[in-house]
Amino acid sequence: MYDPEQTKALQQNTDVWISAAKAPHLSEGITDQIADLRHCLRFHEYRYYVQNDPLISDFEYDSLYKLLEKLEKENPEIITIDSPTQRVGMGLIKDFPKTQHLVPMLSLENSYNADDLFDFDRKAKELSGLAQIVYCVEPKFDGASISLVYENDLLVRAVTRGDGEVGDDITMNIKQIKSVPLSAGFSAYGIEQIEIRGEVLMNKKNFKTYNDALMDEGIPPLANPRNAAAGSLRIKDTAEVSRRNLEAFLYHVSFIVDLEPAVQPSANNNLPLTHSGMLDMLWNLGFRSPKNEMKVFTGIEDVIKHVHDFEIERDNLGYEIDGMVIKVNDLKLQDALGMTSHHPRWAIAFKFKARQATSILLAVEFQVGRTGAVTPVAKIKPVQVGGVTVSSISIHNEDYIKEKGLMLGDTILIERSGDVIPQIVKAFVELRNDTEQDIKFPTHCPVCNDALFKLEEEAVWRCINLTCPAHIVEGIIHFVSKDAMDIRSFGEANVRKFYEMGFLKSIPDLYSLPYAEISKLDGFGEKSITRLQEAIDQSKKQSLHRIIYALGIRFVGETTAKTLAQAVDHLLQLADFNEEQLKQLDDVGVKVAKTVYEFFHNADNLHLLQQLEGLGVQLKNEKKNLVTSGKLTGETFLFTGTLMLLKRSEAEALVEKNGGKIMGAVSSKLNYLVVGENAGSKLEKAKKIPAVHIISEEEFIKMLPG
Ligand code: IVH
Repeated sequence: MYDPEQTKALQQNTDVWISAAKAPHLSEGITDQIADLRHCLRFHEYRYYVQNDPLISDFEYDSLYKLLEKLEKENPEIITIDSPTQRVGMGLIKDFPKTQHLVPMLSLENSYNADDLFDFDRKAKELSGLAQIVYCVEPKFDGASISLVYENDLLVRAVTRGDGEVGDDITMNIKQIKSVPLSAGFSAYGIEQIEIRGEVLMNKKNFKTYNDALMDEGIPPLANPRNAAAGSLRIKDTAEVSRRNLEAFLYHVSFIVDLEPAVQPSANNNLPLTHSGMLDMLWNLGFRSPKNEMKVFTGIEDVIKHVHDFEIERDNLGYEIDGMVIKVNDLKLQDALGMTSHHPRWAIAFKFKARQATSILLAVEFQVGRTGAVTPVAKIKPVQVGGVTVSSISIHNEDYIKEKGLMLGDTILIERSGDVIPQIVKAFVELRNDTEQDIKFPTHCPVCNDALFKLEEEAVWRCINLTCPAHIVEGIIHFVSKDAMDIRSFGEANVRKFYEMGFLKSIPDLYSLPYAEISKLDGFGEKSITRLQEAIDQSKKQSLHRIIYALGIRFVGETTAKTLAQAVDHLLQLADFNEEQLKQLDDVGVKVAKTVYEFFHNADNLHLLQQLEGLGVQLKNEKKNLVTSGKLTGETFLFTGTLMLLKRSEAEALVEKNGGKIMGAVSSKLNYLVVGENAGSKLEKAKKIPAVHIISEEEFIKMLPG
């Protein structure tokens, strides 16, 4: 059981614990030793996942965890079900049994403006006969609701909302959320059984990473973190659930069974009498309750001001909220106000400006990207969503259109969640009037009219004509972009303009632009021409890996480009590698080996590279020889999470400068994973590979030469 007093005492000896973890001889008696370790680990989980204020590095935590694992393995009879090691899943879950909630999970009434809140307050005052009511106001978390049941201090059940009466038992998945305690000291409050409600979330950062990974795979992204959280809770593989890095806020105690009076240590007069007191109690017992996010006000006027103020804060939070919840703070008064058949009368949700809106799907345009992928883009009747006007939305691919059953002329629901690109949630089928038409996917490229192709395993149709203007323009835009050749002052608009004017028909043309002609164009004064010329000239000396990345070879991202650059003294040597040899390189798998091989065995591509070299672009690997011997020679590194002392690019450059290599993913070839704040799936994966040393940023810096 998590006992704040005991763990506080243990924590004061953090140093002892850390050194103990390194030289595993703790206290006398294995049972005490294991119990102490568990307390210590729980305390640090609480600091990290609930308070967001860790006191030890992940490496130190991992050492303690591994020690506990080892001791428990040697002494399996001492394992308790609430040990931190017991979160780890038992592999696949068969099904999620239907389970009755102890109390129905009602939803809240919604309000949208000050008048609605005045109304709510007036009714509460009338019913209670009070002149002023004290309210507790907290965020309305936009995730998937859950209820947790603890019996005799142990987490026994976690259930989804379901239909409000009966939900799915997802206990094993909830155990993957580290801020949810596996046991908590409710008995000190005279509680035998308790049901607590809350919301499971995927924070904005993890959601973005998750969606980026989907898009990398060619899978359409999810519309919002709420869907991501709800979907994650239904996964039957607990290891995958753990990788999703879900979080949970617990905000409501819905049911309590008291301990028998004889067993109660100090009767239930220990229990808080207010909602805010309950949030404090949950927090003190180790839960992530909205203790720090809630505020208590007397009278509705201040509540109204606060909810409006908080709407501005919404975008600064790490997670999505869709409004505020206003609750009568006095629990006795809550009871007295009771419920209607649908909602409690003691609480109301105040909804923020919707990030959803309806519109009409007017047309679908097909855009060709630099890899030839044809992406359908929905043109919709312009509509305001979350303060932005949306008039076109990517609808990804043909399968996606079929899955959503979209038709031209449909009334559609769209959503723009935080920084996420707008998505079509659904079409309102019930509003159709038979004038809607099917969306026809083109069989030929909308730009060059060549036939389109689709690989069996892909959802994307492609134009494979390399001379297609769309390919060329998008390819040049990528070539000049910041992470590629970084030709500043040469944005997308210039590429398009110069292409249309016939100045820029291929990448090599960048290095022989007719400046005299360009200077006659509007907006190209002497200064801007000089700037452009200088930027283009400078790009001739870019590092080899940037050139490789700039070429836009399929599946070759920045990391793979670095690996390829390291393997040669001159770019054209890559033409000497066969697929097997390419696969020997770090991070190069079957897919990459194939596309790289094909790229360097295509006569047009080789001609293009020779042309570039002829125009003065450096294809030699100038930097390679500088880094073959250094303090980190032979070592491979990967960085994850947010670094605090160095920029990610600086840290990577330091590795390379000292002869080390940056890897693109966690694998058994990785020697060091350097972990910053909020590290996610890479860390989880690395923990499972004994060969990978997990180190902090400080430890990494210590590895560098003085
Ligand atoms: S209180 C009996 N507090 O919003 C009332 N709900 O329709 C229990 N929600 O189903 C709910 N944040 O899933 C409460 N701070 C919060 C909340 C919250 C989000 C969700 C919850 C509920 C829905 C309201």
